Parts: sequence; C-alpha cells; structure tokens
Amino acid sequence: MKIQLPKNSPMLSPLFTYGVATASFQIEGSATNRLPNIWDTFCQKPGAIADKSDGLTACDHVNLWEKDLELISSLHVDAYRLSISWGRVINQDGSLNKQGVNFYIKLLDRLKQLNIKAFVTLYHWDLPQHIEDNGGWLNRETAYLFSDYADKISTAFGNRVSSYATLNEPFCSAYLGYEVGVHAPGIANAKAGRTAAHHLLLAHGLALKVLQKNSPFSRNGIVLNFTPCYSSSEDPADLAATKYADDYMNQWYIKPIMDGAYPDLLESLPADVRPDIHDGDLDIISQPLDFLGVNYYTRLIYKANEQDIFEEVPNDAALHTDMGWEIYPRGLTALLTSLNSLYQLPPIYITENGAAEADTLVDGEVRDVNRIDYYQEHLRAVGLAIEQGVDIRGYFAWSLMDNFEWAEGYLKRFGIVYVDYETQERTIKSSGLAYRDLISNR
Ligand code: FCB
Repeated sequence: MKIQLPKNSPMLSPLFTYGVATASFQIEGSATNRLPNIWDTFCQKPGAIADKSDGLTACDHVNLWEKDLELISSLHVDAYRLSISWGRVINQDGSLNKQGVNFYIKLLDRLKQLNIKAFVTLYHWDLPQHIEDNGGWLNRETAYLFSDYADKISTAFGNRVSSYATLNEPFCSAYLGYEVGVHAPGIANAKAGRTAAHHLLLAHGLALKVLQKNSPFSRNGIVLNFTPCYSSSEDPADLAATKYADDYMNQWYIKPIMDGAYPDLLESLPADVRPDIHDGDLDIISQPLDFLGVNYYTRLIYKANEQDIFEEVPNDAALHTDMGWEIYPRGLTALLTSLNSLYQLPPIYITENGAAEADTLVDGEVRDVNRIDYYQEHLRAVGLAIEQGVDIRGYFAWSLMDNFEWAEGYLKRFGIVYVDYETQERTIKSSGLAYRDLISNR
C-alpha cells in the first residue's frame, strides 16, 4: 500500500516541503496550565460536542511532546505545522507567561535539532475566554490584542520559526463560530458573523506587520480554507446562487487580503448585516504575504433557494469520508488554478488536507487504505496544479495524529497516527507509513 506519484512529478523534488499538522486545543491537554478559552466553555454547552467530550486532556501532548517529536521525526517529514495556545503564553494582564513560552521554546529547539522546520500558526480558534467576555471577535479591540500577542510571542521565539501564519481559517472562526453557532463561541447571527470576519482579517493585517518586523527571515502569511462551490445545474438561478455562496464563504476571506476589497456582494447585504469598516482597514488587511496557506477537504454543490438564497445539494452517488464530506480531488486542482487566475498569489503551501475514516486498531495495525487513496489522489491533484503554473511549495497532512475534532469530539479520526485515548499510545497507521515512504524515497 503505497502513495505513488508520477515519476517526473515536481513533488518528488527534495525542494518540495512535506509536513504534518496539528493545532493546540486539539492535542495539547494540560488545560490547568493555561487560561480557559472559548472552546473550554463551548464544550460545557449541552449538545455542542457530539460525544460530550472536551480538550482538558486531548492527546496529552504537553506531557508527551518529546515522544511526539520523535514520532514526527520518524515520519521523515521536512516540517511540522503547530499552533500556539494564546492563553498558554499570554496572561490575562497581557504579560508573557514564562512557563508557557518555555514549553514552546523547548519544543521549537528540539524541532531544530531534528532538522524539522517549524510552521507556527498563532491562532487556531482558541480565543482566551476573558477576551470573549469582552466581546471576542465582535470587539474591534480584540484585533489589537492579537497583534500585541503576535508581537510578544514572535520576539520571544527569536529565529526559531521558519514560517508564521497569523490565523487558521478565519471562515471557521467567523462563520461557524459567530454566524451559525456550531463552533465556539456558539453565536448565531449574520451581523455577528460578518463583524467577526472583519475583525479577524484586521487582526491578521496588524499582526502580519508585526511579524514582518520581528521575524523578517521567516515566511509570514495566513491559512485560509476553501470549499469550492459547484452549481447543481446550468440554470442561471442556480449559477447565481452558487456564485453567491462562493463569494460569501470563500472569496470573502481572500479578496480583501489580495485585492484590498471585499466581493461586490458586500454592497448588496442588508445594511444591518454589513460589518463596520473603518478608513484604512483594507490597506492594513491587504499587505503582501510571503505565502498563502490553503486548506482543502471537499467541495459543495448548490442550488438556488428563494428564502436562503443558496442551498446545499447532497451528492449521494459520490464517495464520502467519515465526516460525510465528498471525496473530490479534482476540486483541489480546480481551486488552485482558479485562485491563480483570480489573484496575484504568493507561493502556496497546502497547509491541511486529509480524511477522517472509521479506523480500527487490529493486531497493532491500522490498515487505512481509503486514507492512502485519499492522500495519493489529492497529492496528484496538487501536482496537476503545479503543472498548470501554480507556485506550490509544500503539503501538510492533516493530521499528525487523531485528536479532538471540534464539534465531533473524539469520534472522527483524521490522524496518520492512531491514538488510543485510554493509554495515550500512538500507532502509525498504514497511511503514515505510506506517507513516510513517499517522503523518504524522493
Ligand atoms: C479544519 C481545521 C482543523 C481540522 C480539520 C479537519 O477546518 O483547521 O483543525 O479540524 O478541519
């Protein structure tokens, strides 16, 4: 069971970066050594998390980090994408938490020794609760608090980091968290969603400026997720609804960064839903990036709906992962080439891609053949985009190991390493071995 790429694929060059990715809340545990955050609170809300679980222990990574880094090294990856828990490194009064900072510094130093590049994300959704209590991303001030955090932590980390991403997937923070309420903090209001999105983008711009000053030799940028929108028919109403969905959920986050403007759709939103945009905000948001991180899992199909404008259409005939997400590798090539034609892109890294499967550990093995297939087909899709002229420099598998999958709790397994949550034992799945072999046989 191998991942096979075409012989002459540019992705077999040693210059192409392969990595694995995780996020703080999903793996760290050790919640008593940090400030409570919005996900701690959300996990307490009845019905919010499918298995009623929380992130208090997760993969116990704060205690097991040394072994986890050995594990990462054994996969022969070039890079490790991790996120920093804001509330572990910054105290409520805004000062640095030395103990928390030291945890990450030791980890970054060990990565360097192991010759693994650190790709650090500053915000992967775990907003300290005291900031949420002050309005969270609905409060413009949070953008400035984030930039202050970016300033302090990038100063403390010195030259240990290869690449900084300000935010992971602002769409999820804003839309899922504040507009439909299925993620923390669980607010369901369109005005709130659009406001949070704007403040997140502002936070990105402010922090990027700080990172370029404090860490000029790292590649600094942002990670966005894209779920390409396909029309269910050629009917103009369906096509228009699909375009609306794409502008509302995908282009909304990239266009302000690349072009310094929101999609025209902004003007057609009811006045009471539009975010409050100050003069100069879009200049801050649209500073040049050193890289764009692209996360891709699936596509969605839409048709027109009179009441809600657009409506998802299920594609029952297709193959789906355990998340119920359609497996559609072609969508990744199409996404990358379309972004490349719409925008002046910086170099791209695929910062997340992967599949949840209902894995079982049998005789010490997890034979996750469907996941191997998923990786192979999506890596090939990336290769096709490179052939069509898109400048893609790397690929990160989501995820290094099974972890807390947000509203799904521990029910969905995305790892290329299996985690037994009772014993915290890790077992490299067949997909992890195939990924390792692909990388080491380059
Ligand atoms: C992405 C998140 C990541 C993980 C995957 C499955 O939206 O960035 O934390 O949960 O989905």
